[in-house]
Amino acid sequence: MENRDISRNELGGEEISRQYEYMARVRDFNAASGGTKLCYVETYGCQQNEADSENLRGMALEMGYGIADGPEGASLIVFNTCAVREHAEQRVFGNIGALLKYKRRDPSIVIALTGCMAGEEHVAQRIKKSFPYVSIVADSRCLWKFPELLFGVLVNGKREFAVGGSDVIAEGLPLHRNRAVKGWLPVMYGCDNFCSYCIVPYVRGRERSRKPESVEEQFRSMVGAGYRDITLLGQNVNSYGKNSRESFETDFPKLLRRLDSIPGDYLIRFMTSHPKDAGDELFDAMRDCSHVAPHLHLPFQSGSERILKLMNRGYTPEHYLELVRGIRERIPDIVLTSDVIVGFPGETEEDFVRTLELVEKVRFDALFTFIYSPRKGTRAAEMPNDTPAEEINRRFDRLVELQNSISAEKHAAYEGKTLRVLVDGKAENKPDGWLSSRTDGGRLVVFEGSEDLIGSFVRVKINGHTTWSLSGETV
Ligand code: SAH
Ligand code: SF4
Ligand code: F3S
Repeated sequence: MENRDISRNELGGEEISRQYEYMARVRDFNAASGGTKLCYVETYGCQQNEADSENLRGMALEMGYGIADGPEGASLIVFNTCAVREHAEQRVFGNIGALLKYKRRDPSIVIALTGCMAGEEHVAQRIKKSFPYVSIVADSRCLWKFPELLFGVLVNGKREFAVGGSDVIAEGLPLHRNRAVKGWLPVMYGCDNFCSYCIVPYVRGRERSRKPESVEEQFRSMVGAGYRDITLLGQNVNSYGKNSRESFETDFPKLLRRLDSIPGDYLIRFMTSHPKDAGDELFDAMRDCSHVAPHLHLPFQSGSERILKLMNRGYTPEHYLELVRGIRERIPDIVLTSDVIVGFPGETEEDFVRTLELVEKVRFDALFTFIYSPRKGTRAAEMPNDTPAEEINRRFDRLVELQNSISAEKHAAYEGKTLRVLVDGKAENKPDGWLSSRTDGGRLVVFEGSEDLIGSFVRVKINGHTTWSLSGETV
């Protein structure tokens, strides 16, 4: 059979080689100016951005920078930003303002704004006009040419704006992960779904999938390097290899089976799944693949059929419930999590009650709840929206209260059980000696133990819980 597993969006090797040349030139430039320079990358938003930041850090190391864990003392400061909600953007503008003091102290430092905000025309304009001390603006589609942009700033004293352009896949860029147990692995970029509220398709471009060979090669190297928890990333992994520009033999369920056959002691996770593209083949693969975690993050966004239509989501609440039945039939103890938006334009009390009903029917293990935020350029931003903010806040509180009671009951049911967990680090907001870990289903478990356990699977007996986490002791 003809091998159709090719990607037409992959950048040519000579483009990437050219960036390696720029990296070498920046490295020479930095060496000539003496001393060790540091780079600080601050990441906002989702795991896709975390993965992009790993490339930014990798390129920085290649360019002779050390990695700093704060802006103080850094010669290169990169804000890798998120545009999904207004609040996230305001925070970034505030934080950029706070960088002025570093630039005043040392005019040679370079400040860059990258990621999804950089992909919005009005943001790029605002930076151009009002933040003259930001030297680079580059959206996620242009990150691969960061070395060239930085060279332009350092050597030619230019301000560089790289926004839009073509939707490419850049293989072979340097990569630096600062975590040792869990790792991200992007399998696709961009999004074609144009949910009416969402900015992502505009700032990340059209959907494009990496070749299965490239994914497998990176996966094998991560397993070889000791990664125990690998998350395959894409805005809608279920359309992997199936978008308009590519048609791979290897769809997402096949990709899962292919990776699962690689020997080793590890878990495969993936996100995000879109209900319109998830189904029996995915669920069968999840059941059959022993490395695939029993966790499904399946955003439903609203329980109202009318609102789902306005959102352009392409499924009904009934279809969503069918999917939940489908996965629970195959994996009864599946951990189900979801995203939901409250206050979409025109959402009535009746629509909102449908959302509450869906949450009650499914009983998710955890829910990520968002208040609708209008995004310039999206279709929903043009829709009439006259529900008062106080009413939306009240709905939001009702939803959170319902989910908290479900989470608490679900967490209480874990008590007394002994579970396998993967220890991933020291516990946050806990005294020394407490470790953080995840069950195979992804639930957070904290317990007291030696740091030597980080990176291993251990068995923990659960003896306490809060809304967000479980606690226990090793057995
Ligand atoms: N591609 C993923 C989600 C990416 S954004 C998916 O389709 O599921 C993560 C979540 O942010 C979304 O699931 C949605 O619940 C929320 N979100 C996106 N745009 C939003 C907006 N304009 N206002 C409020 N929440 C939004
Ligand atoms: Fe946004 Fe919808 Fe694409 Fe998710 S699937 S990134 S919500 S447009
Ligand atoms: Fe934000 Fe961009 Fe991710 S908008 S949620 S960082 S894809």
